[in-house]
Amino acid sequence: MNNNFDTQKIPNHVAIIMDGNGRWAKQKGRLRVFGHKNGVQAVRETIEAAAEIGVKVLTLYAFSSENWSRPKKEVDTLMSLLAASLKKEFKSLQKNDIQLRAIGDLQSLPNKAQNQLKEVIKKTASNNRMILNLALSYGSRTEIVNAVKSISKKVVNNELKIENIDKKTINNHLYTFSLPDVDFLIRTSGEQRISNFLLWQIAYAELYFTKTLWPDFKKQNFYDAISEYQKRERRYGKTSEQIK
Ligand code: IPE
Ligand code: IPE
Ligand code: MG
Repeated sequence: MNNNFDTQKIPNHVAIIMDGNGRWAKQKGRLRVFGHKNGVQAVRETIEAAAEIGVKVLTLYAFSSENWSRPKKEVDTLMSLLAASLKKEFKSLQKNDIQLRAIGDLQSLPNKAQNQLKEVIKKTASNNRMILNLALSYGSRTEIVNAVKSISKKVVNNELKIENIDKKTINNHLYTFSLPDVDFLIRTSGEQRISNFLLWQIAYAELYFTKTLWPDFKKQNFYDAISEYQKRERRYGKTSEQIK
């Protein structure tokens, strides 16, 4: 590791909007899918870097519910790339003791990707070092709508009283119910927006935007982001004096 981190200040949950594959490819005069293919290496490096410094949960935004609106050819390539990468990366997840999970409308993924995903999730279920959480066909507003529906059902069936609904209830009905809040959100490619990602879960996350395009994101870029995180003072509404 090239950096000396304060081991007391490693973010528990890091979430990344992996953006800029298309532009990376265009800059090289190639088709957008070339960027997606080269983004896989960045995913691998980031997973390793995060596990090495002791991040407990890494959530990667790999495909949004809105991304289904892209040209069919690009969507198809992304889906085959997903299935192939899961197959290929399975061994290194095992070796590194990483548990795979997924959030999103997983039913809408093609069968091959779904089956591959289920298999790796099952086989890595008892791994303990880090949770790798893939956001696939994920949309935060849909997630919230689904939570409202299942909470309402419980109220109608007298399993839950309205006056007992609190923040924890909402949390427990999101796809991320068993995960801690996001501490640190990274977005590559220079865009400074959230794009329907983890709206509830990032309520108090530190945000980090870098111009680096996703396929160029290496371990050192991740460490640079973590160094920046460690300089932040998370006040949660309090004064600086109260924190110290
Ligand atoms: C991120 O890169 C990957 C996905 C959204 C699947 P993009 O494909 O959005 O790349 P840009 O933003 O067009 O450069
Ligand atoms: C967000 O990136 C989704 C993923 C990184 C998977 P997009 O490239 O789809 O986001 P917008 O459309 O630029 O906001
Ligand atoms: Mg993009």
